[in-house]
Amino acid sequence: MTRIPTMAENQHNPAPRVWLETYGCQMNVADSQLVTAVLRRAGYTPAARPDDADVILLNTCAIREHAEERVLRRLGELARFKRTRPALRLGLLGCMAQHNRAALIEKAPWLDLVAGPDAYRRLPEMLGAQSFDPAVDVRLNRAETYGDIAPEYACGVRAYVTAMRGCDKFCAFCVVPYVRGRERSVAPEDILREARQLAERGVREIVLLGQTVNAYRHGATDFAALLSALARVDGVERIRFTSPHPADMTAGLVATMAAEPKIQPYLHLPAQSGSNRILAAMDRGYTVEAYLELVARLRAAIPELALSTDIIVGFHGETDEDFRATVGLMRTVGYDSAFTFKYSVREHTRAFRLGDSVSEAEKSRRLAEVIALQEAISLERYRALIGREFPVLVEGPARRGAGRLAGKTPQFKTAIFPGRPEIAPGATVRVRVESATAHSLICALA
Ligand code: 5AD
Ligand code: SF4
Repeated sequence: MTRIPTMAENQHNPAPRVWLETYGCQMNVADSQLVTAVLRRAGYTPAARPDDADVILLNTCAIREHAEERVLRRLGELARFKRTRPALRLGLLGCMAQHNRAALIEKAPWLDLVAGPDAYRRLPEMLGAQSFDPAVDVRLNRAETYGDIAPEYACGVRAYVTAMRGCDKFCAFCVVPYVRGRERSVAPEDILREARQLAERGVREIVLLGQTVNAYRHGATDFAALLSALARVDGVERIRFTSPHPADMTAGLVATMAAEPKIQPYLHLPAQSGSNRILAAMDRGYTVEAYLELVARLRAAIPELALSTDIIVGFHGETDEDFRATVGLMRTVGYDSAFTFKYSVREHTRAFRLGDSVSEAEKSRRLAEVIALQEAISLERYRALIGREFPVLVEGPARRGAGRLAGKTPQFKTAIFPGRPEIAPGATVRVRVESATAHSLICALA
């Protein structure tokens, strides 16, 4: 029997196919869209599966050890494709590439390419190189914003647009300033052009991204001015941003959030700890009192504001008393949701040398406690909304289907409601909350 050649084999010079996997935060998702655009311009095309790719790339995260272990396991799995397809090129991108390239190349000698977050422009060149040694580019470039490259956004009603890259805060526990480099902001005209194009394609909600997004500054444009300019883009109905740093929440920014109806009443405001001693050791640049005062100002200015946070338990030196203070902060603020993490010692950070005084078992115990606490608080806060009505931007079918649709309220809470043929993604519908879990609102059309 003769095998029928595939379309790609039939073409004289088929475009090489790329399989790209993304790990970690929203920034990495946005960077992968950028990488896809860079590679497409250079004649590459996305592969449908890793099995039929010519190039496999993993865009990685280094924030905690666990994230790195996961990628290393996946790399091991993918390396087996190289046995049957020696021409396959395997590459590692992103924060982990930047963080420990030497150890990586030792642990994964089959890697052909290692590229840090500021090296994506050079990917086609690196992939084109014919060499037995892996192509490595982990030079950080304090000017690189990729502002001129339009990323390949996933289609949907919401798009994540990078506003700034890098971080200058150097929190003692965090590897981000080392792997993503110095803070730099994308020119406002690049962001606004992107937003206009997205709106024309049907995107209704823009989420501005940056490691400390509210530290944004480009010439005379600060973050509040950027938000105001974005609000004037026709077709953009909702504006969000993540993640702001508490120390950069200026009065002007709070006032702009309160005054501009397109800016949605939801803020992810990482606290990390509720103990002043630990906040100082973490070099967070605020006290619990200052944080609570900010929360009070925000809530006074934006009465319907929802808040979420990041909490680290078991930072070096965290006593039971410090931990109780974190629990106290979570209760006092009453977050709508929280991302909670066990402290993970990271090489290169300032806290690396301090040590890791809290045992793994104790970290797990503390983590379980904050997770259970947040579940209870979330459930209470979500249930308190029963009977209330909200405008919901429709995203598409709900995950557990049954003809239901899902979307977000202004407070970024998932709303699930009955579908109707005339309700399409991108529309805004009014719903009434009928019941709630700790993670979603079950609604009727109002
Ligand atoms: N260990 C645990 N959590 C960390 N984060 C950052 N670095 C670490 C670390 N070394 C958490 C912080 C940050 C979030 C993105 O990840 O809470 O806000
Ligand atoms: Fe890391 Fe702190 Fe920068 Fe956030 S602000 S990315 S926690 S160094």
